[in-house]
Amino acid sequence: MDFKLSREHEMLRKSVRDYAKKEIVPTAAERDEEAKFDRETMFDKLAELELTGIIFPEKYGGVESDYLSYVIAVEELSKACASTGVTLSAHTSLGSNPIYLFGNEEQKEKFLKPLAEGKKMGCLGLTEPEAGSDAGGTQATAKLEGDEWVLNGSKNFITNGGEAEINVALFRTDENAEKKHKGISAFIVESDAPGFSVGKKEDKLGIKSSPTRELVFNNCRVPRENLLGEQGEGFKIAMKTLDGGRIGIAAQALGIAQGAYEEALNYAKKRKQFGTSITNFQAVQFKLADMATQIDAARMLVYRAAFNVDSGMPYTKEAAMAKMYASDIAMWVTTEAVQVLGGYGYVKDYPVERMMRDAKITQIYEGTNEIQRVVIGSNIIK
Ligand code: CAA
Repeated sequence: MDFKLSREHEMLRKSVRDYAKKEIVPTAAERDEEAKFDRETMFDKLAELELTGIIFPEKYGGVESDYLSYVIAVEELSKACASTGVTLSAHTSLGSNPIYLFGNEEQKEKFLKPLAEGKKMGCLGLTEPEAGSDAGGTQATAKLEGDEWVLNGSKNFITNGGEAEINVALFRTDENAEKKHKGISAFIVESDAPGFSVGKKEDKLGIKSSPTRELVFNNCRVPRENLLGEQGEGFKIAMKTLDGGRIGIAAQALGIAQGAYEEALNYAKKRKQFGTSITNFQAVQFKLADMATQIDAARMLVYRAAFNVDSGMPYTKEAAMAKMYASDIAMWVTTEAVQVLGGYGYVKDYPVERMMRDAKITQIYEGTNEIQRVVIGSNIIK
């Protein structure tokens, strides 16, 4: 067992950190305030850093790094700006990875390559107004007419929605399947497909510069060959995709927590009250001690989940544990960081209030933490 990262991982961390410091940190507060997605800073330049295809083979436009590298990249970006972190995460593990894992050669060549090269952005359309935690309750339909699938329905709360050119989305292809999840199939939908449009843009508590939109399919037509995987296999594709995606969200939560902890520590070292540094008060020291310990524990879980992916070991339970724990501690650490800064923590002159707002979503999306407990529980007792 080795707790030391390789030289390559450390170099990657440094290059993402340098970029974040130079381009992302200075613009994060303004993008948050204006709920503005800046594609150049938050995506195009990540392609130049070879991050958009980080886990995919070179022949599909990627750089063939491992999942741990992806996790480190999302962690470092999220430390600076959680919206940028989730842009890369949703693009990689939700929009691109299902095509890598379940696509045929033609689909990988046509869709995965531009995604990995960062020429196009990806997203996943799973959630519907009436099918959130119950992902198997998908109501949107796909019907085969000649050589085309005709898609109807809507998907909501879609991260990267409206920006993505390639959408992987789930539709019901069999209303009478013996189990409801067996009637669901996955499709690749290009944003210029006839009948595809983008609906409501969500006005959110946090991750405000990450676009969250509704995807609308109104007799949307895609070629027959855009079916991803086998017909009826969509639910399993979604679950497998989310197993990997949850590690990305765990890394995002870890980065947010690390960022808030560093802000609190730096502030506490400089802040004097009662004639001394507030770090001399145990009330503050204990908060910092608990933050540091919980962040270390979360990092172990997140990196262990990535290790399992890279080693070809099962990771459903490990991903759920990492996502649940890292997001819970991100919420706690950011709230305590605001407390350490006191009144200054509550105003926008410091980034910790943004980090606290950003942390909340990590307990909700890619499966609420209650759903993570369902996943962990069912894997323990089986
Ligand atoms: N990998 C492969 N197969 C899996 C699987 C996995 N991780 N999990 C379940 N399956 C299979 C089961 O083996 C079962 O197969 P069989 O029928 O062949 O036995 C089948 O799928 C159905 O499994 P369940 O009976 O357990 O399914 P369920 O309907 O009870 O649902 C659930 C299980 C865990 C609650 C699931 O619905 C779930 O994860 N819900 C949460 C959905 C979610 O995370 N949504 C997030 C949306 S994406 C998002 O948030 C993106 C963003 O903005 C960033």
